[in-house]
Parts: sequence; C-alpha cells; structure tokens
Amino acid sequence: MAADNARYIWHPMAAPAATEAALPTIITQGEGVFVQDIDGKRYLDCTAGLWCVNVGHRRPEIKQAIVDQLDQIAYYGTFSNLSNPPSIALSARLIKMLAPEKMARVMYGSGGSDANETAFKLARQYWKLSGKPEKTKIFSLKHGYHGLHFGGMSAGGNIMWRRAYEPMLPGFFQAEAPYLYRNPWTNDPERLVDLCIDDLEREILHQGADTVAAFVAEPVQGAGGLIVPPARYWPRLRELCDRHDILLIADEVVTGFGRTGSMFGARAWGVAPDIMNFAKGINSAYVPLGATVVNERVARAWDTDHPLATIMHGYTYSGHPLACAAALANLDIVEREDLPGNAARQGEYFLARLRELLDYKQVGEVRGKGLMLGIELVLDKATKAPLPPTHPASKKLYATLCAQGLLVRIAGNKIILSPPLTFEKEHVERCMNGLHAAFEAIAAD
Ligand SMILES: Cc1ncc(COP(=O)(O)O)c(C=O)c1O
Repeated sequence: MAADNARYIWHPMAAPAATEAALPTIITQGEGVFVQDIDGKRYLDCTAGLWCVNVGHRRPEIKQAIVDQLDQIAYYGTFSNLSNPPSIALSARLIKMLAPEKMARVMYGSGGSDANETAFKLARQYWKLSGKPEKTKIFSLKHGYHGLHFGGMSAGGNIMWRRAYEPMLPGFFQAEAPYLYRNPWTNDPERLVDLCIDDLEREILHQGADTVAAFVAEPVQGAGGLIVPPARYWPRLRELCDRHDILLIADEVVTGFGRTGSMFGARAWGVAPDIMNFAKGINSAYVPLGATVVNERVARAWDTDHPLATIMHGYTYSGHPLACAAALANLDIVEREDLPGNAARQGEYFLARLRELLDYKQVGEVRGKGLMLGIELVLDKATKAPLPPTHPASKKLYATLCAQGLLVRIAGNKIILSPPLTFEKEHVERCMNGLHAAFEAIAAD
C-alpha cells in the first residue's frame, strides 16, 4: 500500500519526487490525543491533524450525530431556497455564540479556503450594495495564511505559496506583520504596534481609503510562522478600519472555537470583527466544513432591491448536513468540557516548559497563545539566521521526534505544536521529554 502512494497520489505541500523517495506515514486509527500508523506504531498527536481535530480522535458523540443524520439523508444542499435541518440549527447556534460580536448571518463552504473566498466576495458585494463600488481592494499581512484558492493565496503573505502560481489577483496588498522576533525596527512591542499600524495607514491613504474594501488577518498568525501580535495590535487595527470605513475580517480558521484559550481569537483581543471565517475546529474535521459569518452591519446591506443583491456564490457542499450535524455535536463537547479553558491552562504550562528549550543553540525563540505554539529554529542565535528545513539538523530533529512517537509539524524553520484541546499535563510532559531528547541528539552531532 505504501508503495502505491506515490504512484497514485500527489500530496499537498510536497514535491512528487520527494514523496516517491520516502514512504509515507499512513495513519489508520486514532483515539483521543493518540493516532496509530499502518504498522501499529502509536504517536502522540501534537498537531491535531492540521490544528483541526480539537476535541480529539474518535469521539463517539460525533460519530453518533453523523450516523443519525445518515439515517435521515446524507446530502441535500442549500442553493436557492432549499435547506436542511442541521445547517439551520448550526447557523442559529453560531449566531448565538457570536452574539457579543453582533454576528447575524452564516454562509458555508467545505473548508478554510472556501471561507476566505466567501469573505472577500461578500466584502466587495457589500460595498457595491452600499453605493461605494470602488471599494474593492483587500489588505492583509505579510506572513499571513488564508488558504490556497486564488483569493486566499493572493491575500497570503508568504512568497513560497505563491511563486509557482503567479501572477496573483490584482487588488491584494500585504502590510508589515507585528513580528517581534524578526523586524528591522524594534524589540519594544508597543512601539512595533505603532510602527505597523502607522505604516498600514500610510499605505491605505496612499492608495485611497475609498478603494479599500477589507482588511483580513489571523488573530494569531499560524501557518506563516506562529506570530502572536502584541495585545494592542488588534484594537488598533479595529480603530484604523473604523476610521477609514474598511471591513475587518478575522480569519479564525485556526483560532476559532478555543485554540488560543478563548472561544474566538479576536474576542481574546477584545475586538469584534465585521466578518469571521471558520473551518477546522468548527467540527474538529470529522467532515469537511467551513463557514463565513457576517455581522448585523454587513448583513443589513442586503436589505435592498439593488440588482446585485443576489449572492451569486456558494458551493455544492454549502451547509452539508453531515458536516453541520458533526459541528453541532462538536460544539456540545467544546462547551461542555470547556476546551477553551483547558487550552488556556495547558497552553500556559506548555509555553513555560518550552522556554527550557532556549538553552539549546538551535532554538531562537518559543512563543504561542493557548494551544497554538511554535519553536523558531536558527543556525545562529546572534544573527537569527533561520535553520533551513533541508538542513541535516532539522531532518534529524524531525526523525528523532517521529521515532519517539511524537507527531509535530515542521513549517520552514518552525516546529509547530497545536495538539487537540483535550491535551493534559501528562501529554505536555511526554512531548517535552521527546523534544529534549531530539535537541540533545542533534547537539551530540
Ligand atoms: C488561517 C487559515 N485560513 C485558511 C486556511 C485554509 O483552510 P483549508 O486548508 O481548509 O482550505 C488555513 C489552513 O490551515 C488557515 O490556517
């Protein structure tokens, strides 16, 4: 079976030649925070799949919800005036959960890239309906990740995801991210916030605020480098968007539903966005699902007989009943077990323990919020030159972690840790033992 892999599959984020050269790890089973591969080797899942299986693997409640729905009907969509009970119930629940943000309407897709696409299209349509059709540009941050459809990729702030597919869409611009560890200006977080916001504002004014539809960012930047902004950044972003009449989109695909230690990432910063994008933790990836939620202000623009008010957007799987049924059962678990609270507690402990790794010469910085944590690897602490993922030390690190039964994600020069939100102290201990052993192994070389 492993040999068939490269014969028939092209993997995301991998060169086909590389997957031919190395047999894959084929995961066949999961239980709680553990998974098992085809050879029976057990791993502690320190990434929750792709920061998505937040409630852990093989939860019987979610299975039951999916089976119950299958007993009714597997699929009926939501185009035009069709609907299905799970999508209605989930929408009502999301709007209730998002009452502090004054959210009003939900549109579904099959994942985070879909959710971003929907947000950008609705933002442009909003301004057309509001009599400002020139407001079309989307601003975002360097190091941001918004999925890999053309819109999300064009908003994305990391060159490596773009180069093979350029040119990007016109009308997308990236501003400086508040990346404390790597910026040419300052080590002072407060000063960095002001520099980044002032720079963004100058660019908006330069282009004309009347041409800017929306600003999108992740409350904590994930795939682009695990960058936690200083606490004042998001409130200042909100003020800036208000000042220039720009919609604020929070890409909560990773941060939504508890990962950062709050139910929502923007809520942790005390900010109510205009649009929020969800996927992953919405149903812990038991069935693909994404959602874009708009607030009352945005929704009101559709109270019109404008000829462009029809939403000419959506997907076959928008509001898929199995995915929505899984989400309802998943949210029961998230709330009943207070997973945001557990993420906050375990995350704080985990981050404190990760600081022990700063004694190793390859560890430039450790950072995180809740159970969204990163270790930035360097060749040299003084110059902060990144440790390339192809470097033998990097490869050995990953191999040693795997051999010890730890699944982590290496993204560029970062080790990303994003376990299920059900992680306990004993799992943190186990992960720390593995990390120490792996860094000691490369120190010995
Ligand atoms: C912040 C963010 N937005 C969007 C996406 C894209 O989601 P998907 O891979 O489900 O399309 C991701 C995926 O990791 C993400 O981290």
